[in-house]
Amino acid sequence: MRVLLAGGAGYIGAHTAVALLESGHEVVLLDDLSGTQAVAAERVETITGKAAPLVVGNAADDEVVEAVFAEHGPIDAIVHLAAFKAVGESTQKPLDYYANNLDSTFALLRVGLAHGIRSFVFSSTGTVYSDPADLPFTEDSTTSVDLSNPYSKSKRMNEVILADVARVNPDVNVTILRYFNPVGAHPSGLIGEDPTGIPNNLMPYVSRVAIGTLDRIGVFGDDYDTPDGTGLRDYIHVVDLAEGHVVALEQAQPGLAVYNLGTGVPVSVLQLIASFEAAVGRELPKEFLPRRAGDVAATYCDPAKAAAELGWRTRLTIDDASRDYWNWQSRNPRGYSA
Ligand code: WQD
Repeated sequence: MRVLLAGGAGYIGAHTAVALLESGHEVVLLDDLSGTQAVAAERVETITGKAAPLVVGNAADDEVVEAVFAEHGPIDAIVHLAAFKAVGESTQKPLDYYANNLDSTFALLRVGLAHGIRSFVFSSTGTVYSDPADLPFTEDSTTSVDLSNPYSKSKRMNEVILADVARVNPDVNVTILRYFNPVGAHPSGLIGEDPTGIPNNLMPYVSRVAIGTLDRIGVFGDDYDTPDGTGLRDYIHVVDLAEGHVVALEQAQPGLAVYNLGTGVPVSVLQLIASFEAAVGRELPKEFLPRRAGDVAATYCDPAKAAAELGWRTRLTIDDASRDYWNWQSRNPRGYSA
């Protein structure tokens, strides 16, 4: 298959490109570089020894997407990973988030369907689940558009739109993948997560403390109703996540399919920090802070559907993720910046 990866030079995108190339597929990367750098595409080629052409442009622009098909077609499938994804930022910039995260889907669908793509895979999120009583979340758990932030709302809106588009395109495979918390990096240490500014997410923040560019870890709340009082999340290694995309593409069937991509194993903030300290080989400075607005006590999935229908399950643990993330960060103290 030749696969267009929208957002293909990003954290999930670059790892998915490696997994697709190593499975014998071809890739074309489209990225506006708002959240990454072009060198990530070169690193994909270094890891795989295969071509990963990068088109720099906005996936929300039909003419940009048309040019990709003209230059690199025929294209069999689109994997749509191009989105703004910072929850806190989305509450400050709702219009930017709705415009970017929805217009990109519209443009990719209009052009892709006009060119006869067979598959469309959409990067969604476990934060579309709205009722903590449903834990562990299955694909049938309650979802809502009435969520805590525009980022998550934009993802749920995309899912609603894709269900209608799938209904009137019965021959097309439309797959929605609900990610839980991506962590880790490729074991080569050549590609990884490279957040701009101060990271919002836990593992990149802990890693910046370990490398010395941030002073100490702030633990947001130790009074949750969880075993150690800190928040529980389902941390999935990005290499497992990437392989989940390959399997979902290869086994896609006509119509709409929804899969959770997670481990099903809840891990606390303190457990993740302890795992990272073991990878680094020393204790890291930390302090307990008040809860962060919008956080929930726990979110993790039941990964049984992907196992039953795709034969896919995660292989890697939080310790693998800490080891690989620290390897990436140690080799690239300033991320992709030279
Ligand atoms: C994890 C835990 C925090 C930072 C986010 C997005 C979600 C998805 C995954 C894309 C929580 C605690 C964090 C810190 C801390 N992204 N924490 N100190 O909020 O579960 O989900 O990433 O799909 O959309 O919202 O991830 O890493 O920010 O937080 O104590 O400095 O770590 O309270 O319990 P989150 P996170």
